[in-house]
Amino acid sequence: MSAGPNVHLISRQDREHPRRVAAPAAISVSGLAYSVRKRSGETLAILDNINLMVADGEFVAIVGPSGCGKSTLLNFLARLLPVQSGRVEVFGSSTGPVKGTVGYMFQQHALFPWRTVLRNTELGLEIQGSDRLERRQRCLDILAQLGLQGFADHYPSQVSGGMRQRISLARTLVGNPRIVLMDEPFGALDAQTKMLVQELFLAFWEKHRRTVLFVTHDLDEAIALSDRVIVMSARPGRVLSEYTIDLPRPRHLDALRTSTRLLQYRKQLWEDLRDEAMKVLRDKP
Ligand SMILES: Nc1ncnc2c1ncn2[C@@H]1O[C@H](COP(=O)(O)OP(=O)(O)OP(=O)(O)O)[C@@H](O)[C@H]1O
Ligand SMILES: [Mg+2]
Repeated sequence: MSAGPNVHLISRQDREHPRRVAAPAAISVSGLAYSVRKRSGETLAILDNINLMVADGEFVAIVGPSGCGKSTLLNFLARLLPVQSGRVEVFGSSTGPVKGTVGYMFQQHALFPWRTVLRNTELGLEIQGSDRLERRQRCLDILAQLGLQGFADHYPSQVSGGMRQRISLARTLVGNPRIVLMDEPFGALDAQTKMLVQELFLAFWEKHRRTVLFVTHDLDEAIALSDRVIVMSARPGRVLSEYTIDLPRPRHLDALRTSTRLLQYRKQLWEDLRDEAMKVLRDKP
């Protein structure tokens, strides 16, 4: 596919189920632009005219070269940055807190070393003031679902990197947010742990079907997990292209990883991304 701006491919699946497309958007971003002033006084454009809709319950992956503004975009959705230009709506509202509605797993997971695994997982619910016994039970349940039973009383320094990542995931999911923002959640994992954590997460998602916006540099991961992949350009980030991933669910990652369909999607995505990634290598500070 040629990489024109804002290319929208609607799969046969979408045409056959128009209700899914017509459902109220969990996320709606229109004309979002963002720039910062550099120390030199020069203006640096970070995001340029981003338009994005995510339906309730949809799993959307975002790929794009380093520095194109993916984390910045998630920060807008979590309302951590004030909108300069354009519109950012969460379930139809552009104002007001999103706490409880939006869970955010940051690029750098921030576990508190002085809190146990359980108490790290409880943090969000604790801040929301939920009942102590109930939140404890919910946290123990989700830790078990993510393969962390028996580690509740450990400290972050006593568990592996893969476990820390899963604790961070548990903390993001335990509040049952309607929208989950995930910024390279499995990026720091070794290849085998990553495959296992992807499987755990996919099983969890297929059971609960939350709206997910998932940033990754791993094209296979984006294709295997998501309903749709958005490709962003090099900075200033724009939506370059968009692919509906027409693969049936439930998905079996082992089989998918070697499937021809996945390879075809990967080839298309890389065709779009290659030139953009090259621009980053040539970029000057
Ligand atoms: N306050 C700021 N001042 C100057 N530049 C900034 C500021 N905030 C972000 N940037 C720049 O904005 C660009 C986008 O940053 P962002 O972290 O969103 O990129 P990204 O796509 O998430 O990259 P990566 O894939 O490496 O995580 C980067 O070039 C970054 O240097
Ligand atoms: Mg980032």
